[in-house]
Amino acid sequence: MKLTSVVAQLLLAPLALAAAAPGVGKKISYDGYKVFRISTHHDAAEVKDQLKSLTAVPFNLNADEHLDIAIAPESLAAFNALELDAEVLHQDLGADIKEEAKFGAYGGVSANAVPSLTWFNTYHAYADHVTFFNDLAGAFPQNSEIFNAGTSVQGRNLFGIHIWGSGGKGSKPAVYFHGTVHAREWITAKVVEYISYQLLTKYSTDTAVKAIVDKYDFYIIPFANPDGFVYTQTNDRLWRKNRMTRSGSSCVGTDINRNWPYKWELTGGASTDKCSETYKGLAAGDTPENKGLVAFTKSLQASKGIKLYIDWHSFGQYILLPYGFDCSARASNHARQTTLATGLANKIRESYGTRFTYGPSCSTLYKTTGSSTDYLTDVAKAELAWTIELRPTGSSSSGFILPAAQILPSSIEQWEGMKYLLATM
Ligand code: ARG
Ligand code: ZN
Repeated sequence: MKLTSVVAQLLLAPLALAAAAPGVGKKISYDGYKVFRISTHHDAAEVKDQLKSLTAVPFNLNADEHLDIAIAPESLAAFNALELDAEVLHQDLGADIKEEAKFGAYGGVSANAVPSLTWFNTYHAYADHVTFFNDLAGAFPQNSEIFNAGTSVQGRNLFGIHIWGSGGKGSKPAVYFHGTVHAREWITAKVVEYISYQLLTKYSTDTAVKAIVDKYDFYIIPFANPDGFVYTQTNDRLWRKNRMTRSGSSCVGTDINRNWPYKWELTGGASTDKCSETYKGLAAGDTPENKGLVAFTKSLQASKGIKLYIDWHSFGQYILLPYGFDCSARASNHARQTTLATGLANKIRESYGTRFTYGPSCSTLYKTTGSSTDYLTDVAKAELAWTIELRPTGSSSSGFILPAAQILPSSIEQWEGMKYLLATM
């Protein structure tokens, strides 16, 4: 491990603190859990009612068409007896999680050396992601540096990599990415790492890459919810929210993507139940993660403005345009956004035939309030502010646990898409 810079030490310091923190208990086992996609035939309430006595973990928030759900081994006989219209997404979720947890060792690189592409063959521990970014920035000191956008509940840095071109640091409009706001969506960090890696390693040899890096300043935050991500590696692979406790409740966690201070007060797009997966918090922007991200976003807006923001999620294969808070509201430049999203989906499909659906977030997926992309559109005035839901679709495949063999293809198709979008927008 190369830990020469002060920044590297600052980044790693909170880990010791977190390891000693309470709540690091036993890891939840999903051994023998089977995951199904159940066709609801547009009666999700009826299906949920039939499942209510089973031990199960739902995967998707909107079950209008289908319900993706992990069924515990002790409930499988009862589940099978229901004879629902279902296909299997994981035969044994626990086995697939163990397979996914065969992390590559990352020993770091010697000073100023570029990390190997083998990084993208497996998933990795959080501490190794931190080292990877320090190493990557260390290899390209003329074009990049590590920054911090704030601090998590447990004191981890919301670090990111800032990448710039010939105009010098901070001279161009921002291209701004967030990964892993939802802790279990592991593929998102890998994809933004791959894009960062390509931007830096191709800058001097690929004229198309040089042109986009010279045109924008990139601010890429791979872990908007680092505590949650660590928790998925230590305790519960399916954790989504942050790790904030609230007085009067034993339930932990606020959904950072329902906590942004814009349209937060509306009902129907988030939950006021502290135990819900989409708990919005007690007040707009009352999570430390959101406070840091809002302040950092404002600084980008005040500097050169924000050209493109992408909040990377999984899963479902969607490109989601504004808005989340209202299903009939449209961005003022909606027609142009749709043209660009069409082009992006077409470009993504060219690599491996992967199909991404695109459209306004609320009408395409579900209603959300206090989401990052609505804030970025109307408050921070980003020209484009999208959510991209990565692989898989869920249909006849996995969900949050995407096989490591798909890290590279997922990354390559998005990189090809981003080169198109960044050159066209
Ligand atoms: N899976 C994401 C979430 O639940 C999708 C949000 C899409 N909505 C939006 N306004 N961007 O947070
Ligand atoms: Zn998500």
